[in-house]
Amino acid sequence: MKKILMLFFSLIISTSSLNAEVSLRHLLQYDKEICLERLEQATTEELWDAFLQGQAELFFEPEFHWIATQDWWKEVKSILEIGSGNGAYLSRLADQFQDKIFLGVEKLPLSVRQANERYARDRVEFQEGDAEIFNEQLTNSAEVVLFRLTLQHLKKPLLALQNTWDYLLSNGYVLIIDSCDSAKKPRIQLLLSIKL
Ligand SMILES: C[S@@+](CC[C@H](N)C(=O)[O-])C[C@H]1O[C@@H](n2cnc3c(N)ncnc32)[C@H](O)[C@@H]1O
Repeated sequence: MKKILMLFFSLIISTSSLNAEVSLRHLLQYDKEICLERLEQATTEELWDAFLQGQAELFFEPEFHWIATQDWWKEVKSILEIGSGNGAYLSRLADQFQDKIFLGVEKLPLSVRQANERYARDRVEFQEGDAEIFNEQLTNSAEVVLFRLTLQHLKKPLLALQNTWDYLLSNGYVLIIDSCDSAKKPRIQLLLSIKL
């Protein structure tokens, strides 16, 4: 039987570590004037990329420790992430679990390109795709379908989950990691009310 697992957390933005150049990812180390100057220069694409990099690190450790202790996770080999962004999170996960293969599917072409340029390697690849449009090629392709901080962005999350069901191999799992945002509460309740 296919199963859905959900892990929710409260979203807190944090940045970390030091770097010699003024990078968007490390603004906390600079004074306000330099930060504002750098932010004004940044394009929307740069800001989104920096946000995704930071978000990949956000709560990675507790998530990783939880996942790593799950018996079902130890058994599975193929992981499909839907909404993989610039690939930072999936790549980090792949570093930790070298016995598994990872495919990220993402709607934004720029993010897919960044993901492939930075992180594609043996066992890890990224392709363009829309969670809300069924992709025949993904049918029966994964033992785990992961949605991390993605379902909340979708116009039709239930449709995405229905599609996902067909992407799963039998005995597969849908792993949902998302934030608890009171503004999105009705949608979360809707998701929780799905009958398996
Ligand atoms: C908040 S980001 C999460 C990225 C990554 N999963 C992570 O945890 O860092 C949500 C991602 O979902 C993507 N996305 C939004 N709608 C989508 C859709 N319909 N199909 C596929 N990806 C979508 C966005 O472009 C974005 O990259």
